[in-house]
Amino acid sequence: MAMKDYQVKRMFENIAFSYDFQNSFLSLRRDSYWRRVMAQCLRLPGETLVLDMATGTGEVAVEICSHHPGARVIGVDFSPKMLSMGRRKAKLKKFDSRIHLTLADGRKLPLKSSSFEAATIAFGIRNIEERDQALREFYRVLKPGGQLLIMEFDIPDDPLLGTMYRLYFDYLLPPLGNWLSRTNYAYSYLASSVHDFPTEQGFLEEIGRAGFTSLGIKKLTYGIAKIFRGIKSA
Ligand SMILES: C[S@@+](CC[C@H](N)C(=O)[O-])C[C@H]1O[C@@H](n2cnc3c(N)ncnc32)[C@H](O)[C@@H]1O
Repeated sequence: MAMKDYQVKRMFENIAFSYDFQNSFLSLRRDSYWRRVMAQCLRLPGETLVLDMATGTGEVAVEICSHHPGARVIGVDFSPKMLSMGRRKAKLKKFDSRIHLTLADGRKLPLKSSSFEAATIAFGIRNIEERDQALREFYRVLKPGGQLLIMEFDIPDDPLLGTMYRLYFDYLLPPLGNWLSRTNYAYSYLASSVHDFPTEQGFLEEIGRAGFTSLGIKKLTYGIAKIFRGIKSA
């Protein structure tokens, strides 16, 4: 079930109204923990500028600001409705002076080269068909030595846990998520896009082909979520 970019954008426009609730409910609040760990993995000494691509409702941007007092975050997304939820949240959490959310496409960022100390993307790269292009854009906008963190869903490696999780992920999550999001496809797409995503080794190679080095993976909650990392060589 592949989707074109305009279909992905329309989907997020349609589900933005309850996106945070859906995530939190369907992951039993694990999603907040995963984003927190991602923010904590960033090494950000002093005043730094971070790019959060496919920022959606700004959850990662808020986590970064909470954990790194010297960080400012530019969040980019191509869904105006997701961004407007994010702006409201940033204001509510009193981070509106440090989080700037802007409408843009991750495949062609309207941002200066070598301008960010770090870049993140959580649960977004899977939605971008032209992953190579997005990875090259990350590389371009990062400063030499800059860190890239990419979080994505996967199925646990353990055979028993993997089978049990698949039962939930393939059979329970799609109808429940579709119902919560008032669509008949959003969470069916989530499940199929996770299955269509490259293996962890394959994806690490893609990150390496974009120029990143010091590649690695951190597995969270038995590998249901994974954080891929790379560094733009100095
Ligand atoms: C699953 S949401 C993740 C949002 C957020 N990072 C989080 O952790 O909740 C994926 C986001 O990617 C955005 N997106 C997908 N393709 C994009 C692209 N080519 N450029 C910018 N944003 C994109 C969608 O609009 C959506 O907000």
